[in-house]
Amino acid sequence: MKRFAVFVSGNGSNLQAMIDAVKAGQIKAELALVFANRHKAYGLKRAEEAGIKTLVLEPRNYATPQSYDREIVLYLKKENIDFIVLAGYMKILTPWFVKQYDRKIINVHPSLLPAFKGARGIKDQFTYGVKVAGVTVHMVNDKMDAGPIIMQEAFKVSEKETLESLEERIHEIEHRLLPKCVAMFVDGKLKIGPRKVKIADRK
Ligand code: GRF
Repeated sequence: MKRFAVFVSGNGSNLQAMIDAVKAGQIKAELALVFANRHKAYGLKRAEEAGIKTLVLEPRNYATPQSYDREIVLYLKKENIDFIVLAGYMKILTPWFVKQYDRKIINVHPSLLPAFKGARGIKDQFTYGVKVAGVTVHMVNDKMDAGPIIMQEAFKVSEKETLESLEERIHEIEHRLLPKCVAMFVDGKLKIGPRKVKIADRK
């Protein structure tokens, strides 16, 4: 069985969705490690409650992003991690890191990429006044929020929408879409090219 790590920086509600999906047998892989760049990340509590090993390394203890990422990868290799899911991990991986896990890192982003890249995807969409919002799950490459898209889901934004209601709707989709994409990855259903991901069994 494949072993995977989930990277978090905060609440970890997407991590929770994956913990539940593994338990339910939807994702047929072992969630072997939860990594955080902050001791305060609530996701760590969720991991502990689920009996999953955790690791925290704080970037300020490392001279460069490269030395930080090297240390993380050392642990990942030691734990025989086959692939990684970024679930609200608010740090950009170095190109070196991405190369170590080429086409083996999945990210969830709270907008219809390539629109509204970056750390404030939900707020930026709301402020901009989009009429259609959504979620993207994609493979990670060496450019931020720019890797090949696995799946997207869109919905109409009503005029009554508040930032909070938009957030809620986006999270609800994320918690469905991310485990679904991870399951397809694990089941070998994704044909990952340099720009496009093809899903087997789909025309
Ligand atoms: C999600 O909206 C995700 O799309 C973004 O960061 C947020 C993380 O939320 N990358 P959580 O920590 O999973 O609750």
